[in-house]
Amino acid sequence: MKLSIILGTRPEIIKLSPIIRVLEKEDIDWHIIHTNQHYSENMDKIFFEELRLPKPKYNLNIGSGTHGEQTGKMLIKIEKVLLKEEPDVVVVQGDTNTVLAGALTASKLKIDVAHVEAGLRSFDKNMPEEINRVLTDHISSYLFAPTEIAKNNLLNEGIEEDKIFVVGNTIVDATLQNLKIAEKNENVRAFFNSIVDDNYFLLTLHRAENVDNKNRLKNIIEGIFKITELYDEDVIFPIHPRTKKKLNEFNLFEKLKSNEKIKIIEPVGYLEFLMLEKNAKLILTDSGGVQEEACILKIPCVTLRDNTERPETVEVGANMLVGDDKGKLIKAVEIMLKKDMNWENPFGDGKSGERIVKILKDSFKY
Ligand code: UD1
Ligand code: UDP
Repeated sequence: MKLSIILGTRPEIIKLSPIIRVLEKEDIDWHIIHTNQHYSENMDKIFFEELRLPKPKYNLNIGSGTHGEQTGKMLIKIEKVLLKEEPDVVVVQGDTNTVLAGALTASKLKIDVAHVEAGLRSFDKNMPEEINRVLTDHISSYLFAPTEIAKNNLLNEGIEEDKIFVVGNTIVDATLQNLKIAEKNENVRAFFNSIVDDNYFLLTLHRAENVDNKNRLKNIIEGIFKITELYDEDVIFPIHPRTKKKLNEFNLFEKLKSNEKIKIIEPVGYLEFLMLEKNAKLILTDSGGVQEEACILKIPCVTLRDNTERPETVEVGANMLVGDDKGKLIKAVEIMLKKDMNWENPFGDGKSGERIVKILKDSFKY
């Protein structure tokens, strides 16, 4: 069996790392194809280094662009590599343009697609990620759903049950494996101490529907300002490059920087970010992976979105959705800060990587 692992962005590198860890110990022919959808050092290289991942066999250097441009360039370049490598299975993870391009190219070449984190649905077709997820699921042969909710979404769309495997989410593997490493690492601890001197809230923001819309972005910032008035805690904000670009474009960056309680920092490595999450009093985010990690680490989360494709986090009581509504944000922060953080982690036991590799291996035995 030969596997091509296609990845391109920060969360894909992190969430595929547990699978790569298992593959390193197996007698399987595999390699990484990196589209370089993310390319800045702190969105890309730092994760390969911290997670000790092997260098990609192929770097396609696609970079940023409009959806059509970026996806189209990926299709052209991925096809050339797959024709040369002739893998049995292409593995993709999540819902980015890299995922859609990888899956679409493979399926046109009649190569099986394994979709890790299949079946997530926000039911919001305005999100580019929702289009990418739905299309990828429908052309995949192995659908690795993290939870029963995800499996049911797939069944409801008519996808055959024998293609669906509920395996948990590899983010649990990544979180548990790397938190231990982070806590022991002196450099990470030194970094943490240089940023943090008291209780704090952690903020991330990058979803296109939030940051590309001036009004929504303004509302969210005003909401965060209100939180800084109501609570003593600083807000630590590792800023995504998309958000920085948009804040500048909308002339909102200076306003944000004027608030001394909001500590804007560059995006940080995974070990550093896990430390920031684990020690936060509360997490404010619109990220998919961060909602999951907050739930796993038992840190209360308030999600700056109207919907989530991770409803498990809300159901177990770990997360509340507030969109860009200031009133809802204030109420949710108040409620979440009073929570007993004893909810169950709905995303599995940290062995998803092993399960996924075993299922793929077993299907090639006969
Ligand atoms: C992408 C994914 C999103 C995912 C996110 C993870 C799609 C449609 N979106 O969004 O689902 O949650 O990655 O972080 O695939 N930029 C840099 N350096 C980089 C990468 C991006 O400066 O390394 C800037 C560029 O200005 C670029 C912008 O960020 O135009 C957006 O990058 P892009 O990859 O298009 O989308 P993300 O917002 O990162
Ligand atoms: N993350 C990180 N450094 C940061 C911000 C986030 O390592 O400065 C990690 C975080 O732990 C999570 C992943 O990046 O595992 C989430 O990526 P992102 O929010 O960019 O994308 P999404 O999950 O929304 O697709």
